Amino acid sequence: MVYYLRFLKPPRIQHQKPGSVSITTLVCITTDLGDAFLAEDVDLLVTLALHTTEKVLYQKPIKWTAGKREIPISLGPFSAQLSKQALVLGVAACDPRRPRAPCPDPLLGESGIPLVVSGWSAPFGGSEPLAAEKLIERRFGPSDRIDLRIWEETGNSLARHIWDAAIASVIYIQQIVSGESAVTAPLLQGLLQTQRGTPLNVVELGSGCGIVGIALAQLLPQSSIVLTDLPEVEDIINQNISVSKQTRSSKIDFQTLDWDEKLPDNIRDCPIDLILVSDCTYNADSLPALVSILDKLIQASPAAIILVALKRRHDSEIVFFDLMDSVNLKTLHKGSMQLPSQHDSLDQIEFHCYGRAERRTTP
Ligand SMILES: C[S@@+](CC[C@H](N)C(=O)[O-])C[C@H]1O[C@@H](n2cnc3c(N)ncnc32)[C@H](O)[C@@H]1O
Repeated sequence: MVYYLRFLKPPRIQHQKPGSVSITTLVCITTDLGDAFLAEDVDLLVTLALHTTEKVLYQKPIKWTAGKREIPISLGPFSAQLSKQALVLGVAACDPRRPRAPCPDPLLGESGIPLVVSGWSAPFGGSEPLAAEKLIERRFGPSDRIDLRIWEETGNSLARHIWDAAIASVIYIQQIVSGESAVTAPLLQGLLQTQRGTPLNVVELGSGCGIVGIALAQLLPQSSIVLTDLPEVEDIINQNISVSKQTRSSKIDFQTLDWDEKLPDNIRDCPIDLILVSDCTYNADSLPALVSILDKLIQASPAAIILVALKRRHDSEIVFFDLMDSVNLKTLHKGSMQLPSQHDSLDQIEFHCYGRAERRTTP
């Protein structure tokens, strides 16, 4: 599984003796669930940069070693003048092939998917508070295809984080949109590769920070995307929508949609082409509500395709497939992707493409 750099204590400027300051923070490297720490040694590079121009001011290598649960970082002393400017602090795993160079976090390309996803703090200093907000920014790209900046919370909320299946979904969708031959997903290819006269209408359920839908809006011109989740994600998702770089003809909005409640009228009444669901099957208790809302969406838009990306975390998740079958939602095709994990092992993300059974299925 991929590991994520997190700020347990966001960076803050601390005044030391007169005229000097230091910058301190506390970081850890955990899974998306936050249930395990990375148990292998990794070289990290800490970078202090100006918030406005991203000019690098200072870098310091540090080491995460197996068995650690956190590492305190202290930079400085610096001149107190430093605190007059808004700063950001980034922590990245080093590229093993180029020690002291941070691994880029592309979602495609030669460097592949990194084992440790790096992170940048919110701004601090200058006209900002001396301590950064409890947020972390993930930067994927820029590459010729994608330039994603997604904010997550640094706390314990399950919803306001990026999960592994979301990272895999972005790559999978990117491969399909760009026509990579490695992927065989005929219905999705038909949907995402065809020049259309009308916008592609997409609804994402349980979108969390919104990375999947936001990436699609960037990759696909003429898409109209509604990210949905519980009200608790509204602030972070709106922050991510506001900094997103979707193609000019694409549109992206957030709407509250609780699977336990009635389908909102505007979603029911607008024909949907694609429904995205990433890493939403981990909690067996919520599966009946999730499947029921998928069934309602397909009743309203019978031609829609559902793309479910999942990582099997418990045996109980198998209920999802039975429930989908019970409402006549059939797998039209399947795919998978391997994400890196510690000690050179790999982790599997599955993609299940669903639609009404009476659609023409493809082997
Ligand atoms: C594990 S997170 C996945 C987030 C995101 N899709 C990703 O892959 O990064 C599951 C998401 O489902 C949402 N969720 C859980 N129960 C829900 C419900 N009853 N109605 C709507 N969303 C729900 C959570 O708020 C959370 O954002």
